[in-house]
Amino acid sequence: MCGIIGYAGDECAVPIIVDGLKKLEYRGYDSAGIAIFDGGGFNVVKQKGRLAALEEKLENTSLCGNMGIGHTRWATHGEPSDVNSHPHLGSGSKIAVVHNGIIENYKQLKARLERRGITFASQTDSEVVAQLAEYYYKGDLLDAVIKTANALEGSYALGIMCLEEPDVLIAVKKDNPLIVGVSQNANFIASDVPAILKHTNQVYYLEDKEIAVLTKNGVEFFNTDKEPLTKQIETITWSVDSAEKGGYPHFMLKEIMEQPKVLRDTIQTEITKLPDISQFNKIVITACGSAYNAGVVSKYVFERLCRFPSIEVDLASEFRYKDACVDEKTLVILVSQSGETADTIAAMREAKSKGAVTLSIVNVVGSTLAKEADYTVYTAAGPEIAVATTKAFSTQLAVLYKLAVKFAVDLQKISQEEAKTLSDEIATIPDKVAEILTHIDFIQKYASTCIGYKSIFFIGRNIDYAIALEGSLKLKEISYIHSEAYAGGELKHGTISLVEEDTLVVAISCCQRLYPKIFSNMEQVISRGAKVFLVSNAAEAEEHDKLSLLKLPDIHELFSPSLSAIVLQLFSYYVAANKGCDIDKPRNLAKSVTVE
Ligand code: M6R
Repeated sequence: MCGIIGYAGDECAVPIIVDGLKKLEYRGYDSAGIAIFDGGGFNVVKQKGRLAALEEKLENTSLCGNMGIGHTRWATHGEPSDVNSHPHLGSGSKIAVVHNGIIENYKQLKARLERRGITFASQTDSEVVAQLAEYYYKGDLLDAVIKTANALEGSYALGIMCLEEPDVLIAVKKDNPLIVGVSQNANFIASDVPAILKHTNQVYYLEDKEIAVLTKNGVEFFNTDKEPLTKQIETITWSVDSAEKGGYPHFMLKEIMEQPKVLRDTIQTEITKLPDISQFNKIVITACGSAYNAGVVSKYVFERLCRFPSIEVDLASEFRYKDACVDEKTLVILVSQSGETADTIAAMREAKSKGAVTLSIVNVVGSTLAKEADYTVYTAAGPEIAVATTKAFSTQLAVLYKLAVKFAVDLQKISQEEAKTLSDEIATIPDKVAEILTHIDFIQKYASTCIGYKSIFFIGRNIDYAIALEGSLKLKEISYIHSEAYAGGELKHGTISLVEEDTLVVAISCCQRLYPKIFSNMEQVISRGAKVFLVSNAAEAEEHDKLSLLKLPDIHELFSPSLSAIVLQLFSYYVAANKGCDIDKPRNLAKSVTVE
């Protein structure tokens, strides 16, 4: 949700900020803007639409200066428009602000400022920050920022510049991510590491209400009592290339193709610190979107291996408001690529407030979930840029499998030998994924025949149903084709009425025990005119002549979602590509949903 970058250095800030915004565009892309201090004043260029539109506008300017802030927006308050784009200025054009988050008390603050004669230009909540900081500014920007931060309710990551202190760029955050990058010749603020990785891998992670004061020569940190803080610098291990497309037409395809490697990295990384599972009588897995789907898959795995009395999976947005029955005997597992999803963070805080022990499975090091959970296990997916998650999802599954095996041993539900067999099977996943990726031409060709469908259904049973949920989400997210996932056994309870001549049903069948069941579901839809695309490792599938088949390598049923997921990702990708969709930046979406 919205990307922020700020630069203070010796070079012209414009290309550096625009390049950083390109790396942040996945966070929001309905408008973008930049404010540069050019010696005389703020030069602000803003443009509705994709970043490319801003770049075009910038080409017609000679904008330059050594300090600036930039923003790419995912609209919450106020429609996407030039005027609602960031940066926002105070009405005296003295303060420029970029904001990520939601200012919940903006109406009250705005009314107060309007009563003092201040005129607002936009419909956004964010403008109130610029107006308020300008109102509070009495010759010391840090003072003004502290007063402003203290007055704001809601969530924010802010980059703030002041005309009268042209060497200073200030950053502050609450409940939204913000990092400070340092290098010899320049210092940066950014919403996320890829935006500045080209320039530095040395970063500070800002905590809530910590303030960073940057100049081109250095960075100082303060709390809101204006006391100096000492912070730990961190070294980012991601390579610069990992945030580039590397010759692929889309980040999504690049990230799909990276899966053998990142799965290997994740599987080989030892999980060191975990709670004693025997102290719990309940596990709740909670997350959003695809991370939730990973949780649904894992419920089957935990249930089967751990035989645990109570395992629930909940959408984080539901969990946080349902007054969940959790206590100190509950382990709450939070799953998230970004570690910044607002609902998942709120679910974690709710669980903690009730005494539950929290364990986060997170991709982004230093993110809120990683820092606040009692235990954290990292996925080694590297930076994921495409809005539609692929490699992060796959690595989440891998970590969840490993946890399930470990907990099952600790609970004495499986022997060490069984655990070894299961772990060996998990270790085969990367090579089997690589094998599936060799079928890319078949999937591309098949997907090209599917772009005309108005609706596509996904069916499966048990763990195949869990992965059907993810296949369906992936498809609708990037191709805009309506899609639903159903448990095969549910078809006859109502859903089958939607099946007609030429409906496409994608069936997933990797549970040996349930081959006959899902096959009979396929027969039911085929006899009503549906076409079936079957993703399966069943030998019997090859005998079926009325369907299109993608045969998967054999694997233990519990880990088969890691293989079927790859086919479903490629299928969605190529349907969307053949439809000419903007795959990495699907409409209305943003990668990290840091607002409710
Ligand atoms: O960063 P998170 O994993 O917490 O994000 C959760 C969802 O927003 C995310 O998985 C979303 O559903 C993806 N765009 C799906 O591809």
